[in-house]
Amino acid sequence: MPPMSSGPGSRMSGGSGGADYGTESNDFFEVVSTTRSVRRRLDFDRAVAPELIERCIDAAVQAPTGMNREAWRFLVLTESEPKARVAELYRSGFDGLATRFRNQLPSERRDQELPNERPTYVGLAENLHRMPALILVCSEGRPDPDNAAMQVAFYGSVLPAAWSLMLALRASGLGTTWTTLLVTEEDRVADALGIPADVTQTILLPVAYTKGAVLKPATRMGASEVTYWNRWSRSR
Ligand SMILES: Cc1cc2nc3c(=O)[nH]c(=O)nc-3n(C[C@H](O)[C@H](O)[C@H](O)COP(=O)(O)O)c2cc1C
Repeated sequence: MPPMSSGPGSRMSGGSGGADYGTESNDFFEVVSTTRSVRRRLDFDRAVAPELIERCIDAAVQAPTGMNREAWRFLVLTESEPKARVAELYRSGFDGLATRFRNQLPSERRDQELPNERPTYVGLAENLHRMPALILVCSEGRPDPDNAAMQVAFYGSVLPAAWSLMLALRASGLGTTWTTLLVTEEDRVADALGIPADVTQTILLPVAYTKGAVLKPATRMGASEVTYWNRWSRSR
């Protein structure tokens, strides 16, 4: 697949890139353009080798890290009991979020389908414990609640590695989804998994081989629509 580009005003279309069935790939532009949320067509019965996960983490930790601190930590869950507990807490966070979302909507919109009620989201929540591996990406320390620059530095020192990990898993033929819902239950997750109080939890990546999942470039605004040159709002 060639590098993706888009002309003025165009949207990168999910239908334009030809089918990609989530197989392994070493083509950077293919991988970066087709690393989609995979919540269906996952093989719950095919084990994922720990060595492969470590290989992907080795790639992930090549990401930038502020002050060279390397504060990222990856908690990989493969045993039934911790996976079941985390899945239970994820579902609890999911239900809580759905209720909060709904209560914030004006009454005339309460009947609309919310993202957290879509079948694929529900399916992931219901099957989380069946994933061969769950990877919780953490960072030692806490972001400074009063200092935006420090918050950017804190999360900027862990989320690039998390995204590289998702890319590396995709390149290895594995399906994942970037999820943050579990953070709503951070204290209970910490209790369940022995995570120290001064460790910040970020994303949870459920990991499984895909079974014919079709991964294509998403429909997104093109570069010309989201890029300014030399001055805010100025096009090239
Ligand atoms: C900050 C953030 C949080 C997300 N949290 C969740 C989540 O908790 N559960 C989930 O199923 N998907 C979650 N997603 C995945 C998005 O729903 C998904 O990226 C979006 O629908 C676009 O689909 P794509 O990833 O296939 O491009 C999250 C994505 C982002 C960027």
